[in-house]
Amino acid sequence: MDPGNDGKRTRREFLKSAVAVGGTSALSACLGVAESGDGEREPVPTGVEEIRTLPDRQHAWRDRIRLDQHSNALLPRHQILFYLTLDGSGPPDQGARETVESALRTLDRAYERSHEGLLYSVAYSPAYFDRFEDSLPESIDLPPPRSLSDFESPDLDTQDTLVHLASDRADVVLEAEEVLTGDREQANGRAADARLTDAMSVDSRRTGFVGPGLPAERQGEPEGIPEGGPVPEKSPLFMGFIAGFRKNQASEEYVTLKEGPFAGGTTKHVSNIRQRLDDWYGEQDFDERVTEMFSPGHAEEGLVENVGESLGASSGIERFLDSIDDDAEEFGRVGHAQKNARANRDAEGNVLLLRRHFESTDEDVASLHFPSLQREIAHFEGVREAMNGADLAEISPAIRQRVNNGILEYIFVERRGNFLVPPMKLRSLPPARP
Ligand code: HEM
Repeated sequence: MDPGNDGKRTRREFLKSAVAVGGTSALSACLGVAESGDGEREPVPTGVEEIRTLPDRQHAWRDRIRLDQHSNALLPRHQILFYLTLDGSGPPDQGARETVESALRTLDRAYERSHEGLLYSVAYSPAYFDRFEDSLPESIDLPPPRSLSDFESPDLDTQDTLVHLASDRADVVLEAEEVLTGDREQANGRAADARLTDAMSVDSRRTGFVGPGLPAERQGEPEGIPEGGPVPEKSPLFMGFIAGFRKNQASEEYVTLKEGPFAGGTTKHVSNIRQRLDDWYGEQDFDERVTEMFSPGHAEEGLVENVGESLGASSGIERFLDSIDDDAEEFGRVGHAQKNARANRDAEGNVLLLRRHFESTDEDVASLHFPSLQREIAHFEGVREAMNGADLAEISPAIRQRVNNGILEYIFVERRGNFLVPPMKLRSLPPARP
């Protein structure tokens, strides 16, 4: 895995997978690239001494990332998810809580809370809260993860803690990782006070990337993407379209818990979804892909150009919801966004889910890490049920469990986990009833 001296191409190839590979050699390679002409690392903006100057919500990312010209969020390019297990059984003690808090404060001081520095959040599973005698307040909907369709059997993530790191800079996520869980003693030039692994052990490390160019650049590597480079250069995702238009996403405010000790927090469902895109690119033409991703109406009216920039700030899916049963009959196909949007609004028309998914080539397989934030896990489960499209399969014989049913033919759920993202003040090993 050493980049070696075999010429620039080898080094570039190595850098592409540096975050996936991880460890000190990957970090050194990235730091090498982050050096400007004078051999110094391109500066990383530093963080704050006073944690109270940071937002109360760990999930407050939108004001701290890039937006496109329609104010659609552009998620940080490089991301890492760590699933950790607490040492020992029973509830954590005060010592462990202080260790975690000082490890996190190291990050707060070292890196600006932004896409140019580091965005991160720490979340806890139902299994973690089971360590306490008291249960979570009743107003919090955080069931254990479960299978959400008849045709999936995911591994369930029941580790205690999920740490999510994100930055536009690969060297920053790798360095933060080494500081939290490795033996790096400095974060952006500042001494690390404690490491997360003094209180917990890493059970699983998952990585990914998102944004124009990155999937195309990596498409030759993983299993699941056909040969011939079908992923468009400008696509932020392997499937070739932009996702997460501003008006099709819940606001951070909407997904925030409003009352009780965890007010300011949110719930997070994270799935991992393997992709097999041979037929997506090999057997479907562009209009068929638009039909299956958005709706038959989007294809008929030519609403989607290239990777979907023509849609602006909204997929415009609302216009195609009432006609979904007719579409099923007439076209023998329905769209992914069209199905999901049916269950993704409250009575006032507010969107329920804030999706923040990114691509992965972990284990050399094309997959998607899919964090979704919502006030209740039930909101996510409701949308997923709508996505299963069982009702539509009853309308048209052409629509089956996985065929002509949005994008279900090409995606396979491998893992699911549910977490509570507490507000900042409870981010370090919170009790179930603070
Ligand atoms: C490889 C997997 C996936 C890809 C590439 C993908 C991509 C997309 C795209 C391009 C859209 C339309 C644009 C937008 O509104 O963002 C969309 C909409 C949506 N997707 Fe996915 N998606 C995937 C999996 C999922 C899964 C597993 C869920 C979970 C339930 C989901 C939930 C949604 C929702 C809620 C919408 C918005 C519908 C609305 O307007 O309310 N997606 N997705």
